[in-house]
Amino acid sequence: MKQSNDEGTAGLSFESNRLAVLGLGHVGLPTALSLAELGWQVTGTDSDTSKVRQVGSGCAPFYEPGLQELLSKHRESRRFRVEENVEEAIRSSSVLFICVGTPQQEDGEADLSQVEAVARVIAQNLNGYKLIVEKSTVPAITARWIKRTIQRYAPANTYVTKTLEQEESPMALQPSDGVHLFDVASNPEFLQEGSALQDCFSPSRVVCGVESERARQILTDLYRPLNCQIVVTDLNTAELIKHAANAFLATKISFINMVGDLCEAVGGDVTQVAKGIGLDPRIGRHFLNAGLGFGGYCLPKDVRAFIHLAEQHRVDFSFLKEVERINNGRVDRMLQKLRSSLWVLRGKRIAMLGLSFKPNTDDMREAPSVRMIGKLLQEGAVLQVHDPQAMPHMRQMYAEEEGRLTYCSSPYEAARDCDAVLLVTEWEEYREMDLPRLKDLARVPILIDGRNLYDPNRMRQLGFEYYSMGR
Ligand code: UGA
Repeated sequence: MKQSNDEGTAGLSFESNRLAVLGLGHVGLPTALSLAELGWQVTGTDSDTSKVRQVGSGCAPFYEPGLQELLSKHRESRRFRVEENVEEAIRSSSVLFICVGTPQQEDGEADLSQVEAVARVIAQNLNGYKLIVEKSTVPAITARWIKRTIQRYAPANTYVTKTLEQEESPMALQPSDGVHLFDVASNPEFLQEGSALQDCFSPSRVVCGVESERARQILTDLYRPLNCQIVVTDLNTAELIKHAANAFLATKISFINMVGDLCEAVGGDVTQVAKGIGLDPRIGRHFLNAGLGFGGYCLPKDVRAFIHLAEQHRVDFSFLKEVERINNGRVDRMLQKLRSSLWVLRGKRIAMLGLSFKPNTDDMREAPSVRMIGKLLQEGAVLQVHDPQAMPHMRQMYAEEEGRLTYCSSPYEAARDCDAVLLVTEWEEYREMDLPRLKDLARVPILIDGRNLYDPNRMRQLGFEYYSMGR
């Protein structure tokens, strides 16, 4: 972690270097710990006190490479502490990062009630200047709503700094006169689960949507140690950058999956197509891996929220609906391969390798495996599943059931006596697996690779009946 600042961050151009991170989830906790690593004094809080206590006791509440170690390090360095009382965390800090959840409602719209609730608590606890930084993924114009909400619920004599900068004599009003100042900024997060800390320390860019010089100055000071490009915009534009980025990544994935389907139909190899087009710097190779499509908490939800926002403003986003439609068909496409090779699924023993929505996380939100398990159980298959990290979470959704669903301690246990193996998440452990051993354990050596992890020629040489996606 090259940016580590073990001396602490003194001499900054804003008066208090205390930061608070409100929400300790997959974005909040890595953000809080990476800011501590950069030398800041960070207080973490969450409306879920059991989570605050768990983090306070030094135990990371979810799996993310390096997170546990960084948590231990900064509890010890005392640069990171938790506070159960959200109000106290707000009062004792001058920069507040909003990292609360923005789940999705049934119609695709983002549920911003947690953002609104936290804005109201901030309003009631303004003491001196505060910069309120929205980091949760939110639709455009949310920062404006946060500002309006704070103004509405804050005591009289509360002003946005921008208002003062526009006045002739901005220094006429000072916090000491009983005046409270605040700014709202949008600083969207681009970290990926599974490489969250690496992404925090080496971001491709930092986007800061600000309205005042003071907010711009604080955020650029804060991120200067990262030595990366800082894109400064207005509030709406920063929010749109985040949404457009996720929608574009989703588009790349659906595009390559669509091309993969054609490769299968006419005879071609989608991984070679991805390589061939990806070498063009205008296209780029990233996010062109064909397979089971995009899952997780962010891409599916953000694509839906972006479509919803466009519809609200009567902008035609039917293009993105296609991206979503292609993605929704991926699980069925893989299951179709299984049916075509096994014919009947009832009573067949199926091994599933990988449950999390991607490797290096135990996150199961919108993971293709969840839908897949539901469908296979419905069709009467017997499942033997394995995942290096996510099995405890999956157990909460599907309990172990004799003769129907077994959680296995290794991929080999899962493959024992099975009629087919489904590779669902491309964990490194599976890439390095002893494939001849796996084949010997299986009753029928069928392997359906949903992530194009293996080389088709090698698999056939090993004696597998091997199917993959778009090859
Ligand atoms: C995504 C974005 O990549 C981050 O930049 C963003 O900050 C984050 O959402 C967010 O909004 O918070 P994440 O959800 O962690 O990050 O996961 P990704 O690495 O983007 O993968 C999403 C899904 O796409 C996974 O299911 C993955 O298996 C799939 N995928 C990814 C493919 O099917 N093909 C690819 O080529 C790449």
